Amino acid sequence: MWNWESSHTTLHHSSLILKPHFHMGSCKGKKVLLGIGVVICVALALIGEGEGRVPFACDPKNGLTRGLKFCRTNVAIHVRVQDLIGRLTLAEKIRLVVNNAIDVPRLGIQGYEWWSEALHGVSNVGPGTKFGGAFPGATSFPQVITTAASFNQSLWKQIGRVVSDEARAMYNGGQAGLTYWSPNVNIFRDPRWGRGQETPGEDPVVAAKYAASYVQGLQGDGAGNRLKVAACCKHYTAYDLDNWNGIDRFHFNARVSKQDLEDTYDVPFKACVLEGKVASVMCSYNQVNGKPTCADPNLLRNTIRGQWGLNGYIVSDCDSVGVFYDNQHYTRTPEEAAAEAIKAGLDLDCGPFLALHTDAAIKRGLISENDLNLALANLLTVQMRLGMFDGEPSAQPYGNLGPRDVCSPAHQQLALEAARQGIVLLQNKGNTLPLSPTRYRTVGVIGPNSDVTVTMIGNYAGVACGYTTPLQGIARYVKTVHQAGCRDVACGGNQLFGAAEMVARKADATVLVVGLDQSIEAETRDRLGLLLPGLQQELVSRVARAAIGPVILVIMSGGPVDVSFAKNDPKISAILWAGYPGQAGGTAIADVIFGTTNPGGKLPMTWYPQSYLAKVPMTNMDMRPNPASGYPGRTYRFYKGPVVFPFGHGLSYSRFTHTLAVAPEHVSVPLVSLQALTNSTLSSKAVRVSHANCDALLMEFHVDVKNEGSMDGTHTLLVFSKPPSGKWSAVKQLVSFHNTRVPAGSKQRIKVGVHVCDHLSIVDEFGIRRIPMGQHELHLGDVKHSISVQTLDQIKH
Ligand SMILES: *[C@@H]1O[C@H](CO)[C@@H](O)[C@H](O)[C@H]1NC(C)=O
Ligand SMILES: *[C@@H]1O[C@H](CO)[C@@H](O)[C@H](O)[C@H]1NC(C)=O
Repeated sequence: MWNWESSHTTLHHSSLILKPHFHMGSCKGKKVLLGIGVVICVALALIGEGEGRVPFACDPKNGLTRGLKFCRTNVAIHVRVQDLIGRLTLAEKIRLVVNNAIDVPRLGIQGYEWWSEALHGVSNVGPGTKFGGAFPGATSFPQVITTAASFNQSLWKQIGRVVSDEARAMYNGGQAGLTYWSPNVNIFRDPRWGRGQETPGEDPVVAAKYAASYVQGLQGDGAGNRLKVAACCKHYTAYDLDNWNGIDRFHFNARVSKQDLEDTYDVPFKACVLEGKVASVMCSYNQVNGKPTCADPNLLRNTIRGQWGLNGYIVSDCDSVGVFYDNQHYTRTPEEAAAEAIKAGLDLDCGPFLALHTDAAIKRGLISENDLNLALANLLTVQMRLGMFDGEPSAQPYGNLGPRDVCSPAHQQLALEAARQGIVLLQNKGNTLPLSPTRYRTVGVIGPNSDVTVTMIGNYAGVACGYTTPLQGIARYVKTVHQAGCRDVACGGNQLFGAAEMVARKADATVLVVGLDQSIEAETRDRLGLLLPGLQQELVSRVARAAIGPVILVIMSGGPVDVSFAKNDPKISAILWAGYPGQAGGTAIADVIFGTTNPGGKLPMTWYPQSYLAKVPMTNMDMRPNPASGYPGRTYRFYKGPVVFPFGHGLSYSRFTHTLAVAPEHVSVPLVSLQALTNSTLSSKAVRVSHANCDALLMEFHVDVKNEGSMDGTHTLLVFSKPPSGKWSAVKQLVSFHNTRVPAGSKQRIKVGVHVCDHLSIVDEFGIRRIPMGQHELHLGDVKHSISVQTLDQIKH
């Protein structure tokens, strides 16, 4: 029917879909809103004239609105919201629940574009943000998968703070919105996923901590209810297939068990709402168990809003309401689709669908105007918390931020620091790294990613402040000789191999920078295999064979790459994974190679061998293996087969040893009632968490980490738990991670809290969390420790 490749190659797609009959090519060159029909196109063009103005209401200079109740900042927000809703006509309301909300001039309200993105820096993927003029670019941090590899929560939060400073500055300058549809916290479930790069990886605990930290950084620790910017955790839920083997996300029905939903897919979203206090959640394109997520009241109304208590709005993925009507044929009429979405709990449509069909839905009695009011209240509440109804932004908190706060030296330094912390040293035979720049004076720099710029920032990026390529970074230390070896990452020919070999034959050392880019893995583009594309592998092997000095392989990629060939090649000494390291990536790579930075990153996802794929359809959502079908299961938590590099792998130039200083060995679980004991233990020898008295169940462990090396270094302690074996058990599960800087030769004590209910529980096949009784094993770095968990009999008295 329609085709991304042929018709829409020039646009970035934020989680968006374009359909030919909605294409807006005729809209005076404004690509603002994809997917909007002709009628609305006219309205849009009018809004367009106000471009560059800061969208806010209640301008004190506006005599018409000055006295209105919704403008009074000393009145409670819910009262202001109701006052405003009472003044709006139905037609106005309908045009306020879409991303390009209309202006209401009679009430002093300007049009507002809800869609902006800030995945790892202010981005121009959404139409709400534009670069140019006083804001030619913004700090472009490493792609999220790289930042995740630092396992550093304070870094994640700090990046959020900096990004929201830049976002506020751009808003003040009329070039950005205040509502950002980031982060993407779907689980990186399958190594082929084109959007895995955007996520914090495969582990639910890491993803949950990332979600909460980044969101807190973005939204600010504002007094009371106030928001610096509004973040959004997406795409709820069990998304993470874009286009594989003829199945795309617009038609994918993810069949997910209650067990996997509870202990894998929902975990980051729950933390995002409960801990991060996020102001928005986005539902996804796919169906979950036969229902489009954006039309599922159980997911939206009951889970996100009901159980988790979202204080914010729920937004569709771009045109996903249209998708479940047009592509999935989920309802018979468009009015029904609009009504289903609103009844399910959707508040905002990214796309035109609700603007076009809500009126008919109300006229036919499928929903009431009051249903619409509830959605609108959620939206207006967020805008009021952002200060958009408090008058002139310059007089408000963050009103002083401007162009000098974007791409500032401190912000760019943080982008560099993030890249340094995220780079992972995968292999270092014979301690070849770090290279001494006085011993290796001339370095050959080879490979299709050796001198790249935009490749380093991955997708959902903006315009960077500037770049340092790997070649430029290395040239700061030594004399370089450069050959790309392949024209691009697809590496279709070997014509340039000879020249590359020539360089390696003469240079004191050779650095090969290879890997992927958005032509191989991207939104709408899942990979077919895990090997290096085209002839890259041959390039690496031939250059390594020709080299007279040590060979360092640097992989730039979002997803894992099967580099077994390089691991086993005696001529290749060291392997680094740089992810997509952001605008300062080349500096960070060079700093690691020459030892100015001691690497501390760890893999946030399993690196599987290519052979793993044979038994794993991308459409299979099961996390656990199935011995009957030969399905091996997914991620380090459930998959026991061979790996190229495991989750959590990452070397340092130092060696760290662990000793356990304080370690409890028994814990008794008090129950809420005797009846709970009998019911719980009867069937499973596993107490329901809801039947346990969890308050007194925090255990504290002390681990001493010693740096045995001669360089100061950062060490990340990963703590895993391994439940007693049983039918639901994972191989192991991350409990927590702790990083610390340890000076050479010295020791640091890390305190690890293990909460029995949170960390030693597992989820049964009904989605119920239980604490298995018996011997649990804790892995703290390379130390193993056993804890006996039993029920407490005291309740019998
Ligand atoms: C225990 O089981 C009984 C009988 O099946 C049931 O009525 C009761 O509600 C259960 N109690 C709890 C606490 O789950
Ligand atoms: C974590 O990141 C922050 C911000 O860059 C940094 O100050 C801190 O030292 C890092 N922590 C460790 C243990 O490296």
